[in-house]
Amino acid sequence: MASFLFVKTEPKHVIFPMEMRTFVTPLSILIKMNDNITIAIDGVSGSGKSTMARTLAKKYGFLYVDSGAMYRAVTYYAIQHHYLSDGELLKNVLSADLNKIDISFAKDGHTILNGQDVEKEIRSMDVAAGVSLVAAVPEVRMAMVMLQRAISAHNSVVMDGRDIGTVVFPNANVKLFVTSDPKVRAQRRLDELKAKGTEVDFESVLKNIVERDRIDSTREVSPLTKADDAIELDNSYMSIEEQNAILDKIISETLAKKTSK
Ligand code: DC
Repeated sequence: MASFLFVKTEPKHVIFPMEMRTFVTPLSILIKMNDNITIAIDGVSGSGKSTMARTLAKKYGFLYVDSGAMYRAVTYYAIQHHYLSDGELLKNVLSADLNKIDISFAKDGHTILNGQDVEKEIRSMDVAAGVSLVAAVPEVRMAMVMLQRAISAHNSVVMDGRDIGTVVFPNANVKLFVTSDPKVRAQRRLDELKAKGTEVDFESVLKNIVERDRIDSTREVSPLTKADDAIELDNSYMSIEEQNAILDKIISETLAKKTSK
């Protein structure tokens, strides 16, 4: 005899066959059925990962962790202390200082470096130009990964970065890998900078993006790679609404599959 799952919807009741259960269990219920959920979002610079992660965290009531902001904060520290200038980084000196670098996030999501709100400073072109060098230092990465795991120990989190699904949380419940055409990304970044009153030209933004892609994906330690079990999403020509709908579908289906195992 066929069994049925009774799902209450407004304004009337609908009966779904039992075989469809995994596809109709609402996301809010799937989330409650899992203890601490980790959503790992990796991908290229400027692909909109952070906005995506922030939106998901807000929607599900999870903690949002911007791991890129942490590498940016270390870079800003290196610039402030003259450990980084003209593309030259004093790696050993910076590594020896790691225990003096305290990074946290304020309630509004702003990045705090040694008690100072550095959200604006870490988004500057100077920091963008130096961060790949800093993020390639093994000691820096080790310290950041430890911090990322500690921040997430007792919370459901959405974390975005480059190595979240591969290194930080290899057992994440949901892994996404976001890509986007470099020119589309450069235009988005240019618009953001212009809106903030920063005057830069398209070519230099594009150059910075292409260079960061190259360094991020060819560095020796934790290069940007898609985890085998990550779901790839190319959002070059997707509206925010389309992207949100696809994300909801991916997350529901992935959690439903894991919950039913
Ligand atoms: O996501 P973003 O552009 O703010 O990241 C800044 C830099 O930090 C980027 O060049 C790559 C690096 N990064 C990393 O190596 N690992 C992470 N988990 C996050 C960022």
